[in-house]
Amino acid sequence: MRVLVTGGAGYIGSHTTLALLEQGHDVLVVDDLSNSSRESLARVAELTGRTADFVEANVRDANALESAFASFRPDAVIHFAGWKAVGESTQVPLTYYRENVGSTLTLLETMARHDCHTIVFSSSATVYGELSEPPFTEDAPTGATNPYGRTKHMVEQILADVAAADDQLRVGVLRYFNPIGAHESGRIGEDPKGIPNNLLPFVAQVAAGRREKLMVFGDDYPTPDGTGTRDYIHVVDLAAGHLAALDFLTEHDGYHVWNLGTGRPNSVLEVVNAFGEAAGMEIPYQIVARRPGDVASSYADVSRAHAELGWQAHKSVADACADTFRWQSANPNGYAQD
Ligand code: UD1
Repeated sequence: MRVLVTGGAGYIGSHTTLALLEQGHDVLVVDDLSNSSRESLARVAELTGRTADFVEANVRDANALESAFASFRPDAVIHFAGWKAVGESTQVPLTYYRENVGSTLTLLETMARHDCHTIVFSSSATVYGELSEPPFTEDAPTGATNPYGRTKHMVEQILADVAAADDQLRVGVLRYFNPIGAHESGRIGEDPKGIPNNLLPFVAQVAAGRREKLMVFGDDYPTPDGTGTRDYIHVVDLAAGHLAALDFLTEHDGYHVWNLGTGRPNSVLEVVNAFGEAAGMEIPYQIVARRPGDVASSYADVSRAHAELGWQAHKSVADACADTFRWQSANPNGYAQD
């Protein structure tokens, strides 16, 4: 299959591009490199022995997208490109709506012009908000509590509307829980710019000596050890979920939503301990106040993805910590050193 991957140089995008190439698919990555590096794709090529085509462009750039579709003629699109920091989204909401919602409109219009009818979209478990208790099934009520989350929720609704209007369209919405880990080679991984917002990259930088200690946001949640619990899914398992969704969509039209998680909650302190074991050290941390907007617990009901896609997560948090530590140790400054 010929797959156009927006945001394919980023963290989840690069792991998925690798999996697509390994499975024999042809890939064109469209990425503006605003939060990613071409080096990730050079390493994907080194790992797979195959090269993804690349266009440096923002997905909102209708002309660039038009010529990419005209020359590559994709059978399907996987749409990762977008901005993803919750805190930042409250500061620059218009940027989030423009980049995340606007880009999707341009992409869908271009797909329609080029008879491309299949799209897999990177959504987030953030759409479950605080509306119900975990484990979340795909039918749980959705909403969002910040601009970033609202962009994901809006794009889901746009995709559902477009699928309802066009019976040729095949849409797979993937609601990721908490992606962590790196490819087991240690050659590709997560390379956040600036201070990491997410737990694992922050812990990895503490282990590497780049940061003094982890701030644990709250130990008074109604969870077994008082720290927040999340469903941490290995990025390689997550990448495999995209291939399973594409496979499903070759046989089914319409609009489909799947959770991609492990179905198991782990606390912040469990992750800190697992990382300490992987790194062979104690991770220094300090308990501080809760982070505004955080929920106590979030984890998936993964039965639909298992039943419909034949997909499930295989890797553990310990695997992800070992892989992240390998990536971080070999690339202390991410891709920047090369
Ligand atoms: C966050 C976003 C979510 C988004 C996801 C994308 C928030 C509130 N939520 O999810 O909308 O879809 O990233 O990756 O930003 N923690 C610490 N110390 C830290 C960092 C995190 O204790 O320095 C804790 C958090 O309180 C939480 C857990 O670690 O309990 C996971 O946090 P994080 O990695 O930021 O993910 P989410 O908040 O679940």
